[in-house]
Amino acid sequence: MKGWMTRFKAVMALTVMALILSGCGEPFLSTLQPSGEGAAMLLELIILSTVIMLFVFVVVMAIYIYVIIKFRQKKGQEDFIPKQTEGSHALETLWTVIPIILLLILAVPTVQYTFAFADVNTPEVSEEGEELDQIWIDVTGKQYWWHFEYEGLDITTSQEIYIPTDRRVYLSMISDDVIHSFWVPSIQGKMDVNPTGNRNEMWLQADEEGVYWGKCAELCGPSHSLMDFKVIAVSPGEFEEWVEDMQGVTGEEEPETATAQAGQEIYEENCLSCHAVGSSPNKVGPNLTNFADRDKLAGVFDMTEENLFEWIDTKGEEMKPGNLMVDAPYDLNEEEINQVIEYLMTLSPSDVTPESADNGVYIDSDLSDLFPEEEEDADEESEEDDEVDEDEETDEETDENDEE
Ligand code: CUA
Repeated sequence: MKGWMTRFKAVMALTVMALILSGCGEPFLSTLQPSGEGAAMLLELIILSTVIMLFVFVVVMAIYIYVIIKFRQKKGQEDFIPKQTEGSHALETLWTVIPIILLLILAVPTVQYTFAFADVNTPEVSEEGEELDQIWIDVTGKQYWWHFEYEGLDITTSQEIYIPTDRRVYLSMISDDVIHSFWVPSIQGKMDVNPTGNRNEMWLQADEEGVYWGKCAELCGPSHSLMDFKVIAVSPGEFEEWVEDMQGVTGEEEPETATAQAGQEIYEENCLSCHAVGSSPNKVGPNLTNFADRDKLAGVFDMTEENLFEWIDTKGEEMKPGNLMVDAPYDLNEEEINQVIEYLMTLSPSDVTPESADNGVYIDSDLSDLFPEEEEDADEESEEDDEVDEDEETDEETDENDEE
């Protein structure tokens, strides 16, 4: 009966693990479901190293089990000592050479791919044999968001980059403060961005249209886990359309409604020193050119007016702890914030948006496990949590008293 229970528990544990792990397999966020050349190469390396490790494990376990059975103490032979193999040249050579061969099998493609990922100089060639112009994006990592400048195109964005499918897009990467790491799991490996002035370079390529989730993969402060961004891969035609639309923005466009116009004035007085609309150099806060087209607020929150109100009102203090906006000197009342929101929601220069890239894979996914709840819920929860915490504290105090 006991053995049966143990087996049942083991099966249950495996089932729960399978359920939890299957949640990791979102096609816009998983290294195991590559949607780009880089991620596909990395998956090959993952499979190769796993196969080698499994091979070593199986061989070692087989020998181990064989030895346990073969050399177990037998009745009547308690004093028997098997033949000793210490110092055997043949064995020493064998277990030195086999690992070297295995490491070579692993090292050759790894080094090859490392160079391939770093190759940003070989231009791509079109089907007609013409050299394609390279698209370069300057990437700057900042606490806790990303600044993107399209070289030669006069386009600046934050949090989201648009790229055409089936082409390499080249990234020149640096940080403004601490080390961050740029990672879009389903299309390419990680690359650190350093604050010391040396730029790291890599390329991205997406096979299919889609909204691909990017993460900061280097612990960089209290909001490290909220430093998300998106790579939006659209068809080459849509990409051209997006480029034209973005280039058309000067930041001086006047919105239609009176409320939004009032909002624009408040924005210009209070926000312009840190943010910009239209192409801009790297500033203290994110560029807002296509703010209303973004799918997420601050990279992680749903783009709703409630969340946006909360963000401007509290300067994101609890939504993204440690963000620099907390020090912004503005002081706006409810009406002014709503006017600014109405203005920000007019910042939608293009019909090419995350929806045009997505095939329902990312936007329709149930992402509730992957990132924070909406602020309202979060507030309610934290109040509940506080109550619970207080209870727990009282309990702890009682416990302590008991101990004393
Ligand atoms: Cu930036 Cu972690």
